[in-house]
Amino acid sequence: MGNLAMKTYLKSDFASLDGADVLDPFGKLARDLSACRYSREEGGKIGWIDNPFHPAHIDKGSVLNEAVSDMISSTIIEELFKSRPKGGDILKFTDETGEKHHLCRIDDLMLDYVNDSKSEKDVEEQEQTLQFKQRGVNKVITMRSKLKGLGTQPIAPKILGDEIEVDGEHYAKTYHIATSGCQMNVADSERLAGILENDLNLSLAKKPSKADVVILNTCSIRDHAEQKVYDALGPYAARKRRGEPLALIVSGCVAQQEGEALLKRVPEVDLVMGPQYVSRLGDLLDDVSRGHQVVATDPTLLSEDLSRPVRGHDVRAWVNVINGCNEHCTYCVVPGVRGVEQSRPMESILKECMDLADAGYKEVTLLGQNIDAYGRDLSPKRTFADLLNYMNEGIPDGSIERIRYVTSHPRYFSDRVIDAVASLDKVCECFHMPFQSGGDEVLKNMRRGYTYDSYMKIIHKIKERSPDAAICGDVIVGFPGETDEQFQRTLDLMNEVKFDNLNTFAYSPRPNTEAALWDNQIPEDVKSERLQQVQRLAAEHGMERSERYVGKTVSVLVEDRNPRYADQVMGRTRQSRQVFFNGNIDELKGTLVDVKIVEANTWSLVGEVV
Ligand code: 5AD
Ligand code: SF4
Repeated sequence: MGNLAMKTYLKSDFASLDGADVLDPFGKLARDLSACRYSREEGGKIGWIDNPFHPAHIDKGSVLNEAVSDMISSTIIEELFKSRPKGGDILKFTDETGEKHHLCRIDDLMLDYVNDSKSEKDVEEQEQTLQFKQRGVNKVITMRSKLKGLGTQPIAPKILGDEIEVDGEHYAKTYHIATSGCQMNVADSERLAGILENDLNLSLAKKPSKADVVILNTCSIRDHAEQKVYDALGPYAARKRRGEPLALIVSGCVAQQEGEALLKRVPEVDLVMGPQYVSRLGDLLDDVSRGHQVVATDPTLLSEDLSRPVRGHDVRAWVNVINGCNEHCTYCVVPGVRGVEQSRPMESILKECMDLADAGYKEVTLLGQNIDAYGRDLSPKRTFADLLNYMNEGIPDGSIERIRYVTSHPRYFSDRVIDAVASLDKVCECFHMPFQSGGDEVLKNMRRGYTYDSYMKIIHKIKERSPDAAICGDVIVGFPGETDEQFQRTLDLMNEVKFDNLNTFAYSPRPNTEAALWDNQIPEDVKSERLQQVQRLAAEHGMERSERYVGKTVSVLVEDRNPRYADQVMGRTRQSRQVFFNGNIDELKGTLVDVKIVEANTWSLVGEVV
């Protein structure tokens, strides 16, 4: 590709593409401009490239995949791997003249070991260790003696060629997943269930206490999270001690945090896996079914999960856009447990949403711990506002009606996101902007990177540009050293913003976080008194915000039956307020209904179909 083509591409406005090109602008570029016939015909796809630096290939002194090495020179392949690429990265390589460029987009990375042709027995053990390493498994305890775990019992029938070995009796058939924590964890559980159902043919257990594979997907953000996990493990560990062939797995944030300690305390556990290993559950269970006890918590690159998640709902769905967090808030376990930021490519995110649209979904919520950081780790860099524009444009009208997202960070939040929310028809007018405290000194000690005034500046801009928007937040009371005056600033900020919804937390010291070690901790009774105060005030504001809807007609996306009254349905406004009204769920589920609001409650509304 020459210089002009390159410049045009880098400036390209994805939002102006349509049809199949929206999903694959890189493919369009390759088809239109590539100097290589193969690349033109295949829309840039050239297949897997072996890593020349992998120990298995170094001996051979060349790149193994010959078909690919005909297309790209080995120098470029080497440079590509030296740059330690991630899925979604687009890398540019320039020839000596500076005139010609190769653009390479990384679709996915497979970290699994590529089998070497050497097959002597003594290499086997070495290979296995390498395989475990490649999967990020940092500890394997082979073949437990006394405890009868799954042992040699496979999780799924072995596939031999096209034949499936059917000896049904001996295979695990059912699973149970218990989830705690944020939407990110819920989304992870949906992906874990997808792997268990679609790849391993397991089905959901009717009785959790009888399941063959049990996963506790855990959260460690607050309170005695670790102890709760140990308590929950008790009955399952007892089943194993009775000799039942059960695979017991702890995943999620507590797993990441506790790691091997968890195995020491509860030796009945088969697998401890951090949140970054969700897409590798199949491989890890394979190790478990061969009798190993496995800890997979090393930081790793995330690969695209090709398994279909089993979603918990059929109208709205979670879609991860950025995993991990690079912030270092002094109270928070998230960076420690979920690792550094890793953004998914825009094309993969849109593809997932298009699949959801085909399956009849009407709403997606884009997820990220700090969603405003989206795309800064991609190359070329993207912004969260780019993503919103790209999604709004790429999703055809009449399919996904609403795009939501969580969670914003006031330090990274940009005016372009306010503009996107105000101007894009599918993006809902709902901002989730945690402020955590109104006291500047507290914010500094939390290492949040903003002040009372700079937070309020953002809120004023939102209210100006998007006056109907809902503003929601998170607050922590009783952070170490918080004085009465500083706490009063939190109340002041709440009074100034009047949040539509506020998640309120009493500070809880978390393992491996800075603030947990400080000696100015606030007594529990003070924390709890302050918590009640913010909750009372938040409820007052919630009511006030609800009342503004009374008498107005709003568009409600119907999600479910009202759990309390079977002849009523529940849906949400664009601002995410719950609305209850009389209606038949079988007819209305997934539809947009105009509803006149007749009654306001603190966190919800009651209406009538107009
Ligand atoms: N103690 C109390 N609340 C916390 N949060 C995060 N860490 C802690 C902690 N150690 C709250 C923050 C965050 C939300 C997800 O949980 O308000 O925004
Ligand atoms: Fe979610 Fe944080 Fe809890 Fe992990 S620790 S589940 S990221 S809230």
